[in-house]
Amino acid sequence: MKARPLYRMQLLNLAIFLALFSFSYSQDEITGDGAKGYELFQANCTACHQVDGTLIGPQIRGVVDRVKEEGGVGREWLHAWIKDNKALRESGDAYANKIFEQYNRQEMLTFPSLSEQDIDDILVYSMDPDAGQAAFEEAKKKAADEAAAAKAAKASSGGGVSSGIAIVGFFILSVLLIWILVRLNALVKLTRAEELTPEDEEAAFDFAGMMQKYDKVFKASLVLLLFLTLFGLWKFLLHIGVDKGYEPEQPIYFSHQVHAGVQGIDCQYCHSSAKYGKVSGIPSPNLCMNCHKTIKEYKGDYYEEHLVESGEYASADEVKKFYTGEIQKMYKAIGWDPEKNVYTGEQKPIEWVRIHNMPDFVYFSHAQHVVAGEKAILKAIADGTIPNSEELNLPDNSQVCFACHGDVTKMDELKMANQFTMGWCIECHRTTEVDMSNEYNNQYYAELHEKLKKEYGDGAKITVDAIGGLECGKCHY
Ligand code: HEC
Ligand code: HEC
Ligand code: HEC
Ligand code: HEC
Ligand code: HEC
Ligand code: HEC
Repeated sequence: MKARPLYRMQLLNLAIFLALFSFSYSQDEITGDGAKGYELFQANCTACHQVDGTLIGPQIRGVVDRVKEEGGVGREWLHAWIKDNKALRESGDAYANKIFEQYNRQEMLTFPSLSEQDIDDILVYSMDPDAGQAAFEEAKKKAADEAAAAKAAKASSGGGVSSGIAIVGFFILSVLLIWILVRLNALVKLTRAEELTPEDEEAAFDFAGMMQKYDKVFKASLVLLLFLTLFGLWKFLLHIGVDKGYEPEQPIYFSHQVHAGVQGIDCQYCHSSAKYGKVSGIPSPNLCMNCHKTIKEYKGDYYEEHLVESGEYASADEVKKFYTGEIQKMYKAIGWDPEKNVYTGEQKPIEWVRIHNMPDFVYFSHAQHVVAGEKAILKAIADGTIPNSEELNLPDNSQVCFACHGDVTKMDELKMANQFTMGWCIECHRTTEVDMSNEYNNQYYAELHEKLKKEYGDGAKITVDAIGGLECGKCHY
């Protein structure tokens, strides 16, 4: 008698499970591009996930099947989780909370910027990671071959003319100077020496004659010399207070290439205040410990090859040992005992050397550029209209930060990538087209937009200067 209700319950359970299963199954058609998925996974997830085996989060190969087996959830759940796992957990989702506990309440990042298709691409990649990676590498090789061909074509069509002229100019000038020196020397000898050899005499008098004869040439070269000196001085003055390329040594050798490049950690995970206000800020050591409580050694494949080539380190392993040493240095500063996994309480603040620093009378807000201006600046990067575009040579999938800071994901030691002068700000405001589709500008500038349209016609470009980006008061207190 007792067994029957239980049996029924189980049947009911099974029915519900099957219904749910088939329901989720019908929504589970995941189609996407594994190559793109590989790229997205590399860029966003590898700080915490590996293809095979657990890192900080679970293994990614076969994750779609696993969550179905262990949690009875499918595509919808995966999308919700990857977009914003925190919201999903807070909504009371049982499986989400279960894995959170299972992984020691380690927080996964949220990815509000990934589109539905992006997430499907990642999921397709997770089903067959090897195929995704192979497809990506093939596409990349093809693109590289094409770029190399284009570059070769460009190189064979000339260039470097102006520097050639400069070198010839300097050569002529220095020959002239040496000649004058030799002649002057003879003149000096003439005035000093009581006895002159006939040759000396001849040369000296000849010089006086030459002076007269080539009077115009001498004056012209004097003017040229003066001009060049002034030019040099002007260049020099322009560079006072400009620190492009500034790359100070930091107390801990923290590599942006390792973190933002190889590991693909989002800039805003560490510089989280960029979105909200004036400063981007430097992350506090607590944030480092989110990951470094578990990452105690450097075991990556990447290392700076130039450190071995230059002979500074004997081998790749030595460089990696050096990286590991820097992680230990960080523990010391933070006061963490990696053996016992406890804080010792002996802290010594990490004194990062500040690289970018505008004078006090300048107002610069990251939010204005990273949020309101994001689309406009990304478009300007793609079109190659940002200042210094050629030298920065930014990749297609650039983040907005690169427009001003360069491709930070390729910098081991961070350096200043632009001039950061007033002229630089203004140049970008003159050439960058405002994104009138964003909500803020759309409302705020609706009236102005109409007026400009009337003045310049429908297709006219509205650049930042047109909305007041050149007004002194916008950038100066
Ligand atoms: C900062 C570390 C971190 C990053 C970055 C990260 N994850 Fe996670 N992920 C975790 C952790 C930790 C868990 C385990 C659950 C928990 O503790 O919240 C997890 C769980 C998951 C799960 C559930 C897997 C399962 O077996 O239940 C999926 C799916 C997932 N992550 C996908 C991604 C994807 C896709 C990305 C990149 C777009 C990503 N994660 C980036 C840390 C991270
Ligand atoms: C894991 C954390 C982390 C990530 C991810 C990260 N940074 Fe940083 N960033 C730091 C730390 C720590 C410093 C201070 C040390 C230094 O200058 O190298 C710093 C310094 C900087 C500075 C110089 C600040 C100054 O002193 O003027 C810039 C600019 C910067 N980061 C930009 C970026 C960009 C752009 C990205 C994304 C491509 C990024 N960072 C990703 C941690 C991070
Ligand atoms: C989201 C996770 C994460 C955060 C946050 C993070 N790291 Fe790392 N860090 C890593 C990973 C992953 C590696 C590479 C480990 C490997 O490949 O074996 C690494 C490597 C390092 C290394 C050795 C390589 C190098 O850059 O010289 C140092 C030092 C380091 N981290 C310092 C820091 C500091 C300081 C912070 C805080 C400002 C920080 N990390 C924040 C994940 C993180
Ligand atoms: C339009 C140009 C521009 C863009 C885009 C930009 N920055 Fe900056 N960044 C600056 C300037 C200018 C400073 C110097 C600010 C100062 O000294 O007041 C700066 C300073 C910084 C600093 C040093 C600390 C601070 O806030 O002064 C960090 C870190 C930083 N930027 C990170 C980022 C990150 C991350 C992004 C992308 C999310 C980004 N920046 C996008 C221009 C830019
Ligand atoms: C890479 C291009 C770029 C650079 C470099 C740049 N800006 Fe901008 N700036 C923009 C864009 C785009 C906007 C418009 C944002 C929007 O849509 O509201 C903007 C808007 C502004 C505004 C608001 C203007 C207004 O009328 O509301 C200020 C202030 C400003 N920038 C200051 C600066 C300063 C100071 C610097 C130099 C330190 C600088 N910008 C460098 C692209 C740039
Ligand atoms: C888009 C932003 C922006 C606008 C608009 C702007 N400035 Fe500047 N200005 C700057 C920045 C940034 C600096 C600091 C440059 C540096 O440190 O090299 C600066 C520096 C200066 C200086 C100090 C001289 C120097 O080279 O250090 C003066 C004076 C000045 N600005 C006057 C003006 C006047 C007058 C206007 C209006 C016609 C104006 N600025 C408009 C961004 C701006």
